Amino acid sequence: MAIPLLQLALDNVSLEDALESTRILAPELDVIEAGTVLMTTAGTQALRALRALYPDHIIVSDIKVADAGGLLAKVMIGESGANWMTVICAAPIATFETALAEARKHPKGDIQAELFGNWTFEEAVEWRKIGIKQAIYHRGRDAQAAGQTWGDTDIKKIAKLADMGFEVSVTGGLEISDLKLFKGIPVKAFIAGRTLRDAPDPIAEARGFKEEMHKWWS
Ligand code: 5RP
Repeated sequence: MAIPLLQLALDNVSLEDALESTRILAPELDVIEAGTVLMTTAGTQALRALRALYPDHIIVSDIKVADAGGLLAKVMIGESGANWMTVICAAPIATFETALAEARKHPKGDIQAELFGNWTFEEAVEWRKIGIKQAIYHRGRDAQAAGQTWGDTDIKKIAKLADMGFEVSVTGGLEISDLKLFKGIPVKAFIAGRTLRDAPDPIAEARGFKEEMHKWWS
């Protein structure tokens, strides 16, 4: 089973702070995500800056698109340097279709279904049918703050998504000690934001994530 990728979520409010995080962490990372917070404050400027500084990294626009899929994929992927863009699970199927068609015009372009809040496996079947292959399984920051922990239900849903052919990334307040909960599942990427960015020693934290992945996925 392939070793999962390590993805940093930049939910910094300022681009300057975000770039300070990547200055420290980029060599440890496989994927750099302009998180929803950064996309809201700095938008395509953040994507262009990240692409200029990190030409070889996979860059994600986590904008959680709900409409205008084709146009936004053109702006994020075609014009601003992102490779992947997230579309929220609540979006109509047409939004997934138009976003994916646009993303596919670019060699490394792809669309990720962001599974956040309410979604069903019937919808997931429809996403697979139109060719969506990536999904992000997400425990929300607010749900986490309200005490929601990772449990058997999450693990079973993630395993089922992988069985359906999705490349599933996992996120939401992840800590190194959480990773072993997902062992046995071919996780595409573990996405960590605050745990990495706010660590006293971010490089040691990133290396700790990697070591744990090698331990359970080798
Ligand atoms: C919020 C997000 C975050 O980027 C993702 O959850 C990772 O951040 P953290 O590890 O800080 O929870 O998508 O909507």
